[in-house]
Amino acid sequence: MNRYLKGIAISSLVLGLVAAGCSKQEPAKQAGGNPTVGVAIYKFDDTFMTGVRNAISKAGEGKAQVDIVDSQNAQPTQNDKVDLFITKKVNALAINPVDRTAAGVIIEKAKKANIPVVFFNREPLPEDMQKWDKVYYVGAKAEESGTISGKLIVDYWKAHPEMDKNKDGVLQYVLLKGEPGHQDAELRTKFSVKAVEDAGIKVQKLAEDTAMWDRVKGQEKMAAFLAAHGDNIEAVFANNDDMALGAIEALKAKGYFKDGKFIPVVGVDATAPALKALEEGTLLGTVLNDASNQGKATFNLSYVLAQGQTPNKDNTGYEVVDGKYVWVPYKKITKDNMNEAK
Ligand code: GAL
Ligand code: CA
Repeated sequence: MNRYLKGIAISSLVLGLVAAGCSKQEPAKQAGGNPTVGVAIYKFDDTFMTGVRNAISKAGEGKAQVDIVDSQNAQPTQNDKVDLFITKKVNALAINPVDRTAAGVIIEKAKKANIPVVFFNREPLPEDMQKWDKVYYVGAKAEESGTISGKLIVDYWKAHPEMDKNKDGVLQYVLLKGEPGHQDAELRTKFSVKAVEDAGIKVQKLAEDTAMWDRVKGQEKMAAFLAAHGDNIEAVFANNDDMALGAIEALKAKGYFKDGKFIPVVGVDATAPALKALEEGTLLGTVLNDASNQGKATFNLSYVLAQGQTPNKDNTGYEVVDGKYVWVPYKKITKDNMNEAK
């Protein structure tokens, strides 16, 4: 090797060592200095979460390298994906847990690697949230959505005495529940019915079952409710729009929504197909679950954390409550104000 070549060999060796030394302390940064954010969604095949996912990508454009993966509704798969993100030294994690009680394990791993975590849509238990100061949650107050959907039924009951088909002064209802254990499923179920009772209306539950947020399952469960209770059902509560739309299909098959045969069905989310159903007059009302602000807040917090800063209203645009939580408000949506959801 001549002197010239030796010089190059040594300087590239030195450069290599310097680079290796840097990467030990400094997490990987994309060319151009943009931070990387590792995002895991509980499953891609979920209408509402697709909206949140798109909002995260959009918010990250030009600011960060946003790597979004599908956990395929399996917590072990998600844990593997989190491990990969940690190996790749992402600057922040944004996690939509498959099982919200698994957040504790993810927090421990993230803490060890010193990578801040923003959970979203599936709220970790309070004791897990306290495990580390670099843990945040972006979501919406589930009880609020329950109360709003209950009030949609109250308003209809008051304005339409014929809704009490058997004239017994009691509201006979069925309820399609989301995934058991999910804060939105538990609290929407509880607070929707409570809002009706709080309005002084007596209720009788004819049937309740989970349809796991899913449209096809919602249709199947509603068909079973109709087979058992037929036209005795006076209202349908669904914890989300996909299940409400499934229920509407089952009701249509039994002659509802034509020739003046109507039954109030309410959902939550205000997805595009739900807005279409509002317009058509099949869905009575829904509750805006603001995917775009939940996605944007999730990205903004992750981005600020990825740069080693502490999120606050000034640097994220969202108020951070108790140093950990961002709450995006829900909103009542009917045919009259559906443009606000679009
Ligand atoms: C809820 C939403 C459901 C479903 C679920 C997934 O907030 O209303 O439609 O997407 O999150 O965790
Ligand atoms: Ca009745």
